Amino acid sequence: MNAKISFRDVVKTYPMKDGTFTALDHVSLDIADREFVTVVGPSGCGKSTLMSMAAGLVEASAGETLVDGKPVTGPGPDRGVIFQQYALFPWLTVRKNVEFGLKLMELPAEERRRRAERAIELVGLSDFADALPKTLSGGMKQRCAIARAYAVNPQVLLMDEPFGALDALTRVQLQDQLLDTWSQDQRTVMFITHDVDEAVYLASRVIVMAARPGRIQRIIDVDLPYPRTEEMRLSPEFGRIRNEVWHAVYHQAPASSAA
Ligand SMILES: Nc1ncnc2c1ncn2[C@@H]1O[C@H](COP(=O)(O)OP(=O)(O)OP(=O)(O)O)[C@@H](O)[C@H]1O
Ligand SMILES: [Mg+2]
Repeated sequence: MNAKISFRDVVKTYPMKDGTFTALDHVSLDIADREFVTVVGPSGCGKSTLMSMAAGLVEASAGETLVDGKPVTGPGPDRGVIFQQYALFPWLTVRKNVEFGLKLMELPAEERRRRAERAIELVGLSDFADALPKTLSGGMKQRCAIARAYAVNPQVLLMDEPFGALDALTRVQLQDQLLDTWSQDQRTVMFITHDVDEAVYLASRVIVMAARPGRIQRIIDVDLPYPRTEEMRLSPEFGRIRNEVWHAVYHQAPASSAA
């Protein structure tokens, strides 16, 4: 497999008063170039920790994380990160927030503007391009944060529960629009969610993690073609996969009795 992101035997431990806490216990996973994977699992199973390693924000205690076959040593413009909590500059307009990431890339002003415009349009915020974040709803702020990541046009998108705080309708719209840009721009996406429906709808593979210690419990293939449609959500096949993921997440055996 042509792996874009490889986690190889990754271990993450934290020192505790009474010994060490193992947040990730020998996790190995290859994500193919242009693949869309989702990661689900109970709170505290290490989803964010794993993704932060690919982002270059957290160092492993053992093992390594590779992007394009090279060890990750820090953040880079090839990887865009979107967190659940939108982090916008309150004193900058939507447009300036979106352009901010591009300034670091030293693009000409005209190109910056063009890219920001397109990203803002993609997330449906064109009418609010000159608004300040404090005048936007939570969902609109999150769309602005998403536009900022899209504008950089990274090869890899790392998304940590990006739609978690959004209402159901906005969420479904952003899911479809994310799939659109993913198929057009040929990105690799690693997407963390607590929502099993969302995990199945978006991904070609769902990575199910387990806690204590954090590890990969199962990987479930989603054998539904792209583009995904509303009808698919209601199909028996979708229901079957969703039940399988649900079962893997919510009926986990403790580590000691796991195979
Ligand atoms: N800096 C730290 N020091 C000590 N323990 C930490 C630290 N960061 C994370 N942990 C622990 O590592 C485990 C994994 O955390 P992580 O945030 O990756 O979980 P998660 O799967 O993303 O959970 P959630 O679904 O709640 O976001 C948790 O038990 C957490 O308490
Ligand atoms: Mg998390």
